[in-house]
Amino acid sequence: MYYTKKRRIKKGPIIVLVVIVLIIILVIVGINLYKHYTSDEYKLGKAGYDENEIKEILKFDDKYITYAIEHKYEDDFIPLMKEKYFMWKNYDNYIKYINDEYGDKKVDYSKVVSLVNVGANNEPYTHTKKTDMDKGYAILVNKYTSLPEKYAPDDIVEMSNWYAYPNNRIRNDVYAAFKEMSEAAKEDGYTLIVNSSYRSYEEQKEIYDDYEDNRGKEYADKYAARPDFSEHQTGLSLDIFSPGANMSNFAETETYKWLSENSYKYGFILRYPEGKEDITGYSYEAWHYRYLGNELAKKVYDSGLTYDEYYAYYLDD
Ligand code: DAL
Ligand code: ZN
Repeated sequence: MYYTKKRRIKKGPIIVLVVIVLIIILVIVGINLYKHYTSDEYKLGKAGYDENEIKEILKFDDKYITYAIEHKYEDDFIPLMKEKYFMWKNYDNYIKYINDEYGDKKVDYSKVVSLVNVGANNEPYTHTKKTDMDKGYAILVNKYTSLPEKYAPDDIVEMSNWYAYPNNRIRNDVYAAFKEMSEAAKEDGYTLIVNSSYRSYEEQKEIYDDYEDNRGKEYADKYAARPDFSEHQTGLSLDIFSPGANMSNFAETETYKWLSENSYKYGFILRYPEGKEDITGYSYEAWHYRYLGNELAKKVYDSGLTYDEYYAYYLDD
């Protein structure tokens, strides 16, 4: 008789195996759940953004994603972020400006960004600061940024009647650049003549007061800067015409066309362009050119921005 030993299955190891597998499954499920609930996608969904909006937001830098997660849903968030000249420090002001100015109207985000960047969401002359004189030829002067009180440059020279109507003065380097531009224009068949140039605080005040007395404040502010807020007081700006032309017809001349296309090569930019009145705060001035030096003038020209916008985005610190 054979005695066969009954093989008994040992339950212990199997139980251990099952428990290990279960733990592994639980850990994997746990990790995935943790990943899900801590993901930006989930948090953005919680913040109120839909699937498509989340996809858009996730393309932005981390700081924008974090902002969207931490703040309440704003339907202006994505279009604002997509604007080329969006500036983070101005975000709250963009939103405020949109709420104040647009209501149910379609928002022009590009315009909102430009206006707020340059400070034009505020009433002119209400939120002013002193310009940074260390910027040299790049200083910004506009209705929100003034020169030091009664500023006067110390390198002003008289312009010859060959280049300007009588009694025009300008900073030395600007004169040299203008002469060069004037010669180049001559070679192409155009004559440039300066009508107005450096204006002292007192001279600018006289011009502004004159406009104000005769046509009222609103009119004056469209056409003239208040003293200490004028580029003419910097000694870096020139009003340029062709002989015989005036403010009402210069924009129609071939000389203007030449200037608007070539002045940057000599360091000058058109400072108050057509269609940008809301941003510059001034009526279109086809004759007013601002000296920035060749390098910066080319950059501003290439950007297609007004100097106010360019400065706010690239130079203000
Ligand atoms: N016309 C320009 C804005 C000025 O007065 O400075
Ligand atoms: Zn001018």
